[in-house]
Amino acid sequence: KRPAGAPDAALARPIQRVGVVGAGLMAGQFALLFAKALRVPVTITDIDAERVERGLSYIRGELDKQVAKGRLRPEDAAAVKELVVGTTDKADFADADLVIEAVFEELEVKKKVFAEVEAVVSSECILATNTSSLSVTAMAADLTHPERVVGFHFFNPVAVMPLVEIVATEKTDDAVVATAFALAKGLRKTAVLVQDAAAFVVNRILLRLMGEIQNAYDDGTPALVADRALRPMGLPMTPFTLLEMVGIPVAQHVMESLHAAFGDRFRVSANLQRLIENKVTGLWVRNDDGSLSIPESTTS
Ligand code: 3HC
Repeated sequence: KRPAGAPDAALARPIQRVGVVGAGLMAGQFALLFAKALRVPVTITDIDAERVERGLSYIRGELDKQVAKGRLRPEDAAAVKELVVGTTDKADFADADLVIEAVFEELEVKKKVFAEVEAVVSSECILATNTSSLSVTAMAADLTHPERVVGFHFFNPVAVMPLVEIVATEKTDDAVVATAFALAKGLRKTAVLVQDAAAFVVNRILLRLMGEIQNAYDDGTPALVADRALRPMGLPMTPFTLLEMVGIPVAQHVMESLHAAFGDRFRVSANLQRLIENKVTGLWVRNDDGSLSIPESTTS
């Protein structure tokens, strides 16, 4: 295990160009943050041009919203838009100092992405993963330079959640960890160094909560009652709402990683299993009075 705490900040290397693999929900949010907070060129990629375009239009749309709210000057939004470009060719990452991936939460997919990226970047380029739960050590194992790999785990919504978990493996170079801390500071996030253990720290705790409310539901407690019971407990989002935001497939993958590591303390509940089998993607419906509810048909 690595010693706790950040290595000497003087070891940090400058990040002047960022590559982002995956143009989905999380990747779009942190690509925007990199460009806006660091003012560096950011290249995003995905498996096809349509997904890349969707990612770019999400970023442009968010910037337009911030201008409309008076939070960002139009010229700054235009400058940030210029900084983010899309590609379907990872070779365009050749000049990147950091490439971060947020592709499908499956080890083999992530390993393949890292191998493809390593083939085109310089030996100094840092490879970061936003994995929620997979082993960063395993992700780095077959690379020529496993010492360049670090976990950099954001939380959703990226713009407002203050924490980043930095995951260093036994092989991660101190300069890479120091750069990750400097990067988090540049993004105005609080960074914590965590061990490379299943789901790290935050998701391990969150998934107990999200799993237990599903179990309560399976035991016969109506979803809305279980959710409302927790509302006054100081949680910014109750577990069913959080499940909706995180996404059922992501929750499933994190739960499976935790089950593999810790056994029956973590289980895909019967209800979550039903939602997965029925390919339910959204739990909540908006009622005529504007309130949100979970239709019983999606949860039973
Ligand atoms: N994108 C950007 N900004 C957002 C946003 C989004 N999706 N959602 C909310 N915000 C901003 C709002 O614009 C607002 O900013 P402002 O104060 O400058 O106007 C601010 O957040 C507060 O929003 P609201 O007043 O509308 O609503 P809340 O006070 O309820 O806060 C929340 C929203 C910050 C999302 C809060 O509900 C919260 O903290 N929820 C918990 C989220 C959480 O636990 N995330 C972790 C999920 S697990 C994860 O991501 C890990 C992964 O690996 C699975």
